[in-house]
Amino acid sequence: MRIVCLLGSPREKGNSAAIANRFCDVSERLGAKVQTFILNKLEYRGCQGCMACKTKLDRCVLEDDLTEVLEAVRETDVLVLATPVYYWDVTSQLKAFLDRTFSYFTPDFMTNPNRSRLPSGKKLVFIQVQGMPDESMFTDVFPKFDYFFKSYGFSETHLIRACGVREQGEVETHEDVMKLAETTAEKMCK
Ligand SMILES: Cc1cc2nc3c(=O)[nH]c(=O)nc-3n(C[C@H](O)[C@H](O)[C@H](O)COP(=O)(O)O)c2cc1C
Repeated sequence: MRIVCLLGSPREKGNSAAIANRFCDVSERLGAKVQTFILNKLEYRGCQGCMACKTKLDRCVLEDDLTEVLEAVRETDVLVLATPVYYWDVTSQLKAFLDRTFSYFTPDFMTNPNRSRLPSGKKLVFIQVQGMPDESMFTDVFPKFDYFFKSYGFSETHLIRACGVREQGEVETHEDVMKLAETTAEKMCK
């Protein structure tokens, strides 16, 4: 079982990273091979809208630190995306990655039901943390990206979410959330 984990927060010891690390630690203990990328440490640009991935290449034409990340996602069984809510959405670090996954769509993606260049059957674990304690806020974030990963042929998607967390590592006291990270890892590695 291969796992690629993308940390979208600039805070390496933050809440989203704490949940992702718990998920990855349990998975590794169960035999998974985990590769983690701290997006904030990488140098990359957002999608340029050049359409080279639809006209010339089957990959993104940009060559930067996201090139390796995009390739690793092609190979993985499980993708973990961890992000805080920033201004009602994912962080800009993660959003730039998500835009670059446009290169996973085939040139005829608007009309072809088989529109993904990725092997089907991958699984997504989406980790979302937010300062606002109100659980009814920011419920739209995961479904937006869930839609795209399902379009890329992901067969299963899971959300792990913590609300009302602000200080770094505060989420460690949310036992239900940390437990969900563990049980989700167990499910993935079965
Ligand atoms: C620039 C910025 C924007 C934020 N925007 C929101 C927001 O829109 N809604 C919210 O509930 N929390 C917001 N927060 C709070 C973070 O989501 C919260 O502190 C979270 O625990 C940080 O995750 P991390 O520890 O993984 O970095 C924001 C924080 C920052 C720094």
